[in-house]
Amino acid sequence: MAAKVRSKFVCQNCGSSYPQWLGQCTQCKEWNTLVEEVVDRVEEKRGTPASVKGRHPVPVAIEAIPAQDGPRIALSDGEFARVLGGGLVPGSITLLGGEPGIGKSTLLLQTALRNPHLKTLYVSGEESEHQVKMRAERLGNSSSEWRVASGESGGRAHAPDSPLATLPSNCYVLTETNTQNIFKHIDALQPGLVVIDSVQTLHTAVLDASPGSVGQVRECTAELMRFAKTTGIPMVLIGHITKDGFIAGPKVLEHMVDCVLQFEGDRDHAYRLLRPLKNRFGSTNELGIYEMQGSGLAEVEDPSQVLLGRREERPSGVVVAATMEGMRPLLIEVQALVSSAVYGTPQRSSTGFDLRRLNMLLAVMEKRCGFRLGQKDVFLNLAGGFRVEEPAIDLAVVCAVLSSNADIAVPMDSCFAGEVGLTGEIRPVTRTEQRIAEAAKLGFARIFVPKGTKGIAPVKGIEVVQVGQVSEVLSHLFG
Ligand code: TYD
Ligand code: MG
Repeated sequence: MAAKVRSKFVCQNCGSSYPQWLGQCTQCKEWNTLVEEVVDRVEEKRGTPASVKGRHPVPVAIEAIPAQDGPRIALSDGEFARVLGGGLVPGSITLLGGEPGIGKSTLLLQTALRNPHLKTLYVSGEESEHQVKMRAERLGNSSSEWRVASGESGGRAHAPDSPLATLPSNCYVLTETNTQNIFKHIDALQPGLVVIDSVQTLHTAVLDASPGSVGQVRECTAELMRFAKTTGIPMVLIGHITKDGFIAGPKVLEHMVDCVLQFEGDRDHAYRLLRPLKNRFGSTNELGIYEMQGSGLAEVEDPSQVLLGRREERPSGVVVAATMEGMRPLLIEVQALVSSAVYGTPQRSSTGFDLRRLNMLLAVMEKRCGFRLGQKDVFLNLAGGFRVEEPAIDLAVVCAVLSSNADIAVPMDSCFAGEVGLTGEIRPVTRTEQRIAEAAKLGFARIFVPKGTKGIAPVKGIEVVQVGQVSEVLSHLFG
């Protein structure tokens, strides 16, 4: 008997479903986001994996459960492995989110190519086999391991379509978007890692909705989840982030998967950050830093070194902040430019730092330190396209603005860490010792930290100045 076709209306923003159409989603209050999706015999077709059939879980004492902390799968990419918490966990599902063009496909293809011990199935719903191959050749070109002797071929490294003897044989490419077919190929190939590029292109026969809709993305992910858990094959899914920053439109996927990694960075700059938003097997305080090069993503082991560059002298308005990105100390250059407003209303613009917070700091400088910034244009910029959310960068922002305003350079050998409060007080920050150690390592002679920071052991070669008020810092710097 043919099952009755049922349909429901799903909000494309938050994933709530309704039996009938509404103009506004009552959950997230967005307008015109409900889309009809046909729910076609979901329960029957979904099926149960053979291994799960007939199994009825019973309560088990926690001490009686055998420990199953199997070995993690090592990855040659140190940054990726660290962000995952020390390698891939068998049977885990990881979602890699990021804006289009940021380098998600590059990161995962290069993971597939550079781990010869790992048989990888790269499922591409977005690019053809040829496109994937072209990218692989580009990635392979730079790696000395597989570089062909390009010198002899008259400067041309590879003839197009010539079989690249040096590309590793462990990576398989599949251009398929139907989940049931993908599972068949996985069963036949038995890979050690499956990459899905991207989850928005998948569709399952169970649902009639179009690929990319909330229902499809959710149902496909659920299928992949069940498959990964029963087979023990780890999977990494790529998910595009929409304008408003949600992974796959709604946040629904984040709850389902084991790890959510976000790949971010400014497309005009070469640096990319890999940040764990959720990790069932490790800390979310890790951070991976890459540089996008002509031949793929290169790990950046000492980011502060790269970000600070080498300067003979520092102009006014440029200050170094000792920030933390997760667990990693990161010294970063803050640049400010203050000039008289040309138009009636002064302009405030900020790259890499919250504009509202900048406005607040300007108000503090005006009210508590007596600087007349009300009629000034203020521009703020962080080096390398980085974004810093941490409040410990406040003090450096204040110093950069005041330095530019007075046109007096801040000594090159100083750096800053401290949150600035509304009364102009400098408030404690986390992990001060790590910041001091990093500054000392990079050759700074002086670091300004909040007053009352306890337990700071003296570090050789660096003077630690404890300051309680913005005005104290100013008298240190500008006399
Ligand atoms: P891609 O991985 O396709 O992004 P996503 O999958 O997140 O949409 O990355 C695309 C960008 O990366 C593209 O603009 C070109 C650049 N790129 C390099 O600079 N070097 C390289 O070796 C590769 C493969 C890409
Ligand atoms: Mg891509």
